Amino acid sequence: MKKIHVFDTTLRDGEQSPGVNLTTDEKVKIALQLEKLGVDRIEAGFPASSPGEIISVKEISRQVKNASIAALSRANKKDIEAAREAIKGAATPCLHIVLATSPIHRKYKLNMTKEQVLETAESAIRYGKKYFDNLEFSLEDASRTEIDFIYEVVHMAIKSGATVVNLPDTVGYASPETFGTMFKKIKENVPGVENILLSTHCHNDLGMATANTLAAIYNGVDQIEGTINGIGERAGNTAIEEVALALEMRSDIYQAKTDIVLNEIYPTSRMVSKLTGMMVQRNKAIVGDHAFSHESGIHQDGMLKEPTTYEIIRPEMVGVSSSTLVLGKHSGRHALKAKVRHLGYNLSQQELNELFQKFKALIDKKRYVLDEDIRLLIDEQYVNEES
Ligand code: KIV
Ligand code: ZN
Repeated sequence: MKKIHVFDTTLRDGEQSPGVNLTTDEKVKIALQLEKLGVDRIEAGFPASSPGEIISVKEISRQVKNASIAALSRANKKDIEAAREAIKGAATPCLHIVLATSPIHRKYKLNMTKEQVLETAESAIRYGKKYFDNLEFSLEDASRTEIDFIYEVVHMAIKSGATVVNLPDTVGYASPETFGTMFKKIKENVPGVENILLSTHCHNDLGMATANTLAAIYNGVDQIEGTINGIGERAGNTAIEEVALALEMRSDIYQAKTDIVLNEIYPTSRMVSKLTGMMVQRNKAIVGDHAFSHESGIHQDGMLKEPTTYEIIRPEMVGVSSSTLVLGKHSGRHALKAKVRHLGYNLSQQELNELFQKFKALIDKKRYVLDEDIRLLIDEQYVNEES
């Protein structure tokens, strides 16, 4: 199995979600949990963005010992110095330099020619290498960059000393087919690529961040970047938990694995949601409230007979205590009987039949029925029988 390195950017790209603003204490708490989760590298922030950011990144660098700590920097000395100051105390620091390469960014944002992009990137990487052994270079908007120019930039980055070269789908424009082909071509055409970690970083504007990340893995990348719960700029980044589980469940296809400690996924997701204030979509894969809930009678019947009929992941595997059979409009007698037992009652068939009628009458008035409702219905039934 090939090892896929996980670069977590919850504290940098994730914090770029509108409305999210973490304190130093909150960032440290999340960083320590990410370390427990088993990510290889934590991007702690963008130190040049504010003095407060330098303090947070410094504190994370001081406290986290097992995971490597990265800091983001644009391709200039001032940013590199801010990053250097912030992560110099880390056990394994990594400087992350970014410069856009696509024609749109070159023309409208940077006002630079291809040659100027190459020169600027090269001098920033060479400057950064004076202080850092580990250096990642990102070609921002790589998925909209001409392939021949990608080859040139990646080759220059490797020759200048980058140890990781990252190709982001910055605006979530790629499709799995084109994105996978881009990595395949880079592997075939850029000398020295086998000596560095080739990385990807996807955004979710078309809902394809996880699919694009998996296509990149299939075509040879060594590192993936993402966030917990997929938070991040606009529609967010690749959700790390989704990639970790896809690799775990489909090793027949990818033959690759992360070091993510799977049963730390749910506690990490809850912590990130609580501290960032970013609610997790209920039907979100792996960590949503409904990810292990079953509502229809047909599914519930299958689940009660054998969980693999409708569940490919056991909830305990990702740190969720158990699956739930939700009592809703489509639920049947099997689920009600299981719920009654779970609540500690032992009803006769006749009593269960009566309860089922009452439950069906109630569900027409409510979206779903809670344990408390079932208890009340049962107690009411007993009380009526006794009086
Ligand atoms: O989306 C992007 O291109 C980025 C880079 C800084 C890697 O976040
Ligand atoms: Zn990004």
